Amino acid sequence: MTAVFPASATFSGPRLVAVGGVPVTELAARFGTPLYVLDRAELVGRMRAYRRAFGDEVAVTYAAKALCVTGVLQLAAAEGLHLDVASAGELHTAARAAFPMERVLFHGNNKSDDELEMAARLGVGRIAVDSFTELARLSAVGQRRGHTFPVLLRVTPGVLAETHAFVATGQDDVKFGFTLRAGLAHEAAARALTLPCLELIGAHCHLGSQISAEGGFSAAVALLVGFLADIRDRYGVVLDELNVGGGLGIAYTDDDVTLPLDRYAATLYGAVRRETARRRLPEPRLAVEPGRSIAGPAGVTLYTVGTVKEVPGVRVYASVDGGMSDNLRPALYGARYTVVAAGPGSTTAALRPVTVAGKHCETGDILVRDAPLPADLAEGGLLAVAATGAYGHAMASNYNRLPRPAMVLVDGGRVAELVHRETLDHVVARDVVLNDEQI
Ligand SMILES: Cc1ncc(COP(=O)(O)O)c(C=O)c1O
Repeated sequence: MTAVFPASATFSGPRLVAVGGVPVTELAARFGTPLYVLDRAELVGRMRAYRRAFGDEVAVTYAAKALCVTGVLQLAAAEGLHLDVASAGELHTAARAAFPMERVLFHGNNKSDDELEMAARLGVGRIAVDSFTELARLSAVGQRRGHTFPVLLRVTPGVLAETHAFVATGQDDVKFGFTLRAGLAHEAAARALTLPCLELIGAHCHLGSQISAEGGFSAAVALLVGFLADIRDRYGVVLDELNVGGGLGIAYTDDDVTLPLDRYAATLYGAVRRETARRRLPEPRLAVEPGRSIAGPAGVTLYTVGTVKEVPGVRVYASVDGGMSDNLRPALYGARYTVVAAGPGSTTAALRPVTVAGKHCETGDILVRDAPLPADLAEGGLLAVAATGAYGHAMASNYNRLPRPAMVLVDGGRVAELVHRETLDHVVARDVVLNDEQI
């Protein structure tokens, strides 16, 4: 149960006492709840583990979509990572974090002209082009600005990853990229090689997210290397970058089986070596794009219990002060999490199944079903949900006009605020009050 919390987490019996050397009661008192707590050692440790596993030759490209916060991007930049952004907002955050733009890769299946102009203005290092319309528009922006864009083609390899349908992206029937099987990727390469102001440098694919089996990764590499070989054979051009996306899964519960980072790296390396040797291609520069497996396990969300309701013979519900507005994944994907009691309290109380519910007006706003929690859990008690660093804050909303939570970085007993808590005034700040004539 405790294995899914950051390594710095300390427990008293089943209760979480501190993260990053900071007592959870102190965090809750100082910053309020819900509170996203990010463990710096776990976050940075994962960035370093990726760099170690892949070596200096591979561009470890942090997928900002998992957790795009200025301070986190500052840490990623300091660790020598590259960065994947997928919107003007993520790119703006990267600029604010002074992220070296030559290490930034811009993704997205519907980038606007404004976003492409912004990429040119900031000198973004690579654009992952997703469609024929984008190829034409990117070339036009380049010509207007006298700027040449280094381009990767987002290739859809036709590999269905074993994961939730909402986060599988490698199959043919998907909105992203150029389908390999239908020959669209080859046609896109031909076009990219002739359009002005585009420099075709490589290919990209992303199979999906929360993947724990290696088969899909090696199958995708084989198809992508085959594609690079076809481009060489047809057009006499050797493309030297191969970005195989992200998607490595993490453990949210003790039951989750994950693919160890070293095995993932060995699988990718092995497949690239085997396939390039078979096709007599020089090995391309490899890039990976992890998001969840860097930010996810570093996060813990603290909540305060408001009400406890027992439906006799059916279930016990403990409702907390957040829910689907700070963590959409359980409602969206049926994602499972681990929750424990936190702060001082009995360490010997019997455990019983308790369903932790959010405070939103949706029956489906359940964070964790039937979790073993102390029988004396009551109003005012703290709960901690593990592995919430990725796609929690990133997908947060103001549903029911809840202000979004603060986020803090903890390390060695010190706390730094990464994101302020929203106030009720922030929540209404963009509303325009109608004047008497408009009512
Ligand atoms: C293109 C691309 N790269 C990388 C990622 C990161 O995936 P993950 O967070 O599963 O590592 C995503 C996520 O969906 C993605 O769409």
